[in-house]
Amino acid sequence: MSAHTTSPHSPGTALVTGATAGIGLAFARRLAGRGHDLVLVARDADRLASVADDLRAEHGVEVEVLVADLVEPDQLATVEARLADPDRPVELLVNNAGFGLKKRFLDNPADAEQAMLTVLVTAVLRLCHAALGPMTQRGSGGVINVSSVAAFLPRGTYGAAKAWVNSFSEWAAHEYRGRGVRVMALCPGFTKTEFHERMQVTRGEGLMWLDVDFLVEKALADFDRGRVYSIPGAQYKAIVGLTRLVPNRALQLAQSLGRK
Ligand SMILES: NC(=O)c1ccc[n+]([C@@H]2O[C@H](COP(=O)([O-])OP(=O)(O)OC[C@H]3O[C@@H](n4cnc5c(N)ncnc54)[C@H](OP(=O)(O)O)[C@@H]3O)[C@@H](O)[C@H]2O)c1
Repeated sequence: MSAHTTSPHSPGTALVTGATAGIGLAFARRLAGRGHDLVLVARDADRLASVADDLRAEHGVEVEVLVADLVEPDQLATVEARLADPDRPVELLVNNAGFGLKKRFLDNPADAEQAMLTVLVTAVLRLCHAALGPMTQRGSGGVINVSSVAAFLPRGTYGAAKAWVNSFSEWAAHEYRGRGVRVMALCPGFTKTEFHERMQVTRGEGLMWLDVDFLVEKALADFDRGRVYSIPGAQYKAIVGLTRLVPNRALQLAQSLGRK
């Protein structure tokens, strides 16, 4: 872990969970490019160290690493403590870490379902709780919660967890806006990362598959505009628009899309 000093010209420190791959890594790169000092969180210590070295060398920003498995309460608590540290304020929290399960609900052990819910919901709740207190006291800060287009569709427990992220983020955005804090839910569609490989499902190509740098560029532009939701890609804006028109029963038909 490196010593941390924020220069008066820095946009502040950003903490990104799941920063070693995919969307989180793209956020870390883009935020470092904007001059944010970083706190990077993930489980793989070697990969974290390598990403941190690259970002320091490329962008000249301060980078701390926190090795933490967000499933484990004591490790999650170290990330909460970092966010709540009054001497080292975090200006932007990106709750991004996550994974999906290949099998359907009853084919997974309940413990695997519980672990997914812990990372997708409990960690988001606890890290937002730790960050929003100091942010509202300072009257500045922001949170980007990485949700999913799946939140708008009947997609099993993954979609249900992401629906919680949307509902919570929308509420928090309105609750804390008047206190100088922005909260946004980012809802990616299929995005080319390690997510599907880790889930052991085939990653596709073509129109429905978003480039991760495109996704993060659009997300940060939406965040800068003060949007409550960011849904990058015209195809996914259209799908989410349709979900508001199509009866829920018909939406159930879409539930097996993207699964092989
Ligand atoms: N890719 C898509 O199509 C897609 C679509 C919609 C939403 N999303 C959402 O986007 C977010 C990022 O996914 P991604 O596509 O970028 O996946 P990814 O490429 O697999 O990256 C996942 C990141 O999360 C970290 N992580 C996983 N489990 C963790 C745990 N228990 N504790 C701490 N860190 C953990 C991983 O690092 P370590 O393995 O080192 O811990 C990695 O840095 C997730 O919330 C996902 O649900 C993805």
